[in-house]
Amino acid sequence: MTKKILVLPGDGIGPEIVNEAVKVLNAVKAQFDLDLITEEGLLGGAAIDAAGVPFPDVTQTQAQAADAILLGAVGGPKWDTLDTAIRPEKGLLAIRSQLELFGNLRPAILYPQLAEASSLKPEIVSGLDILIVRELTGGIYFGQPRGIRTLENGERQGYNTYVYSESEIKRIGKVAFEAAMKRDKKVCSIDKANVLEATVLWREVMDELATEYPEVELSHMYVDNAAMQLVRAPKQFDVMVTGNMFGDILSDAAAMLTGSIGMLPSASLDANGKGMYEPCHGSAPDIAGQGIANPLATILSASMMLRYSLGEREAADRIEMAVSQVLDQGLRTADIYSEGNRKVTTQEMGDAVVAALS
Ligand code: IPM
Ligand code: MG
Repeated sequence: MTKKILVLPGDGIGPEIVNEAVKVLNAVKAQFDLDLITEEGLLGGAAIDAAGVPFPDVTQTQAQAADAILLGAVGGPKWDTLDTAIRPEKGLLAIRSQLELFGNLRPAILYPQLAEASSLKPEIVSGLDILIVRELTGGIYFGQPRGIRTLENGERQGYNTYVYSESEIKRIGKVAFEAAMKRDKKVCSIDKANVLEATVLWREVMDELATEYPEVELSHMYVDNAAMQLVRAPKQFDVMVTGNMFGDILSDAAAMLTGSIGMLPSASLDANGKGMYEPCHGSAPDIAGQGIANPLATILSASMMLRYSLGEREAADRIEMAVSQVLDQGLRTADIYSEGNRKVTTQEMGDAVVAALS
């Protein structure tokens, strides 16, 4: 049966990097005779400009009908002054929530060719292979009540709610334990159980769940220590599982270990394997339109899509091999450039990956 991919380029560098990923997808489609069709849609600032809202009804219908979604990035200064209820980021949070994409996988893998590009010493990061499992549809990002209110004394007060129910913790925990079973069988759960009750429960549920996975070694770590350990000795981690906000922060830190956030793909999955795939980096408005953004995180996201939602492992492997090959050839976008290599544009990088596929 034909699989439908919804492509949402979004804002900033989104259209440029998605363009390259679609080129790569089309190339593997021809090569492996895949039964795929792609369709474009609007999300974020692009949708606000065209339809007045960041996640229009048309996009909602397209998203429901798709087997998988490939997203660039959303947001930019142009929309920063809008009311928070219709900001581009709201569109992203709404699509994650509406499709129940609670399981966010953010692998941080250091390509040996890029050890020089990392801000840490090569011996600290070489061989790095961490999987961050971030809960994506709950926690403080979605908790109610939230808002900005005026107190009786006239002072304004901002407030949010950090909330996790047992079932939410359990289902993301399962994603982490299942992933660990296919890797080094280690899960480190990140919380702030010394301060926040919501994460006291988080820790308890993870402990309970661990009894169902006797082969997996579960450890716990406070988030402040985890941030420190990530830059001190990142190779101690295999799978890290954590809530929405901590995962947002730790995954950016982990990204830098790999040389550049421009290398980090992600998958956001529902309970049935349907998913949205996007680079972990943002829309980078400062370099948008210059053709210098790194398309590899998006290309690798397309590869994750083939692997996790479309059941096309071989095509996914091929893309990953091609990426490794262009790095071997010394091709580097500006973010991962170091002396002795060849600096290339977004498009040249995409073309090189396509060429390396065959
Ligand atoms: C991410 C981003 C988003 C998030 C923003 C753009 C809403 O930082 O995917 O990590 O915080 O989840
Ligand atoms: Mg983030």
